[in-house]
Amino acid sequence: MPASDQKVKDAVAAIQTMCDRRPRIGIVLGSGLGDFGDGLHNRVEIDTSNIPHYPVSTVPGHAGRLVFGQLVSEGKTSADLLAFQGRIHFYECNDLEKVIFPIQVAAELGIETLILTNAAGGINKAFRPGDLMLIRDFINLTMENPLRGISPPRTASAGNGLDADLLSLARSIAHSSGVQVKEGVYCWTKGPSYESAAEIRMMALAGADAVGMSTMPEVMVATQHGMKVLGVSCITNYATGLTDAKLDHQEVTDVANMVKANFTELLTKIVLALP
Ligand code: HPA
Repeated sequence: MPASDQKVKDAVAAIQTMCDRRPRIGIVLGSGLGDFGDGLHNRVEIDTSNIPHYPVSTVPGHAGRLVFGQLVSEGKTSADLLAFQGRIHFYECNDLEKVIFPIQVAAELGIETLILTNAAGGINKAFRPGDLMLIRDFINLTMENPLRGISPPRTASAGNGLDADLLSLARSIAHSSGVQVKEGVYCWTKGPSYESAAEIRMMALAGADAVGMSTMPEVMVATQHGMKVLGVSCITNYATGLTDAKLDHQEVTDVANMVKANFTELLTKIVLALP
């Protein structure tokens, strides 16, 4: 169930007293990818603990900061953007209201284009840790839906919520700039446990290419608010059963750190190309 409009408005009013920027582009930075926000120029940083009602992330690699700024590359400066360093996962709080609060704040702040990033396990056998995957579609294995309880009732849009034009822009930028990207279907699970090998085999049969514990509810809510959404996964590990290795969160953040250069290049080029 979404947070009350008043809580969102309180949060936005507080943010706007701390920063007078009005970005239209937002980026949510997933596990280990938060450093991207530190590369922004003309930064204004807001610790989320200073924002009323803002949920606290408890996962290592999720800083809990909003960073306003611009990207500068090859002599070009991007439009203002807002990076969310860290997110709140369903498994931390068992409360979708908290998970989607940042997205409701983004909508109220006037964000029109949202890039959601995450760390994910690779199911597709052609994927390697360190690969970037543009999300083409979702499978929801949680059976949860953050749009339930929205009042007055609105009909959730059909389809997966991802913006076809943004996806094709991201694809063509990756190709023209030589950044290797994969493309695929992201399967949303509740966590916090990683999957069993049998579950991964089931997901593969269902057509999933990657698995993770975030992003899909945020996409659903962002779309409901009329935002254009792109999803990018950083494949941090082979999903359970694809190798003998035992999964841990440290591996996820280590690989996300390794892929930082490619990730930053791709995101910067996409943002600079946005209309
Ligand atoms: N499973 C679920 N979530 C994840 C994984 C995984 O293998 N890697 C990173 N996030």
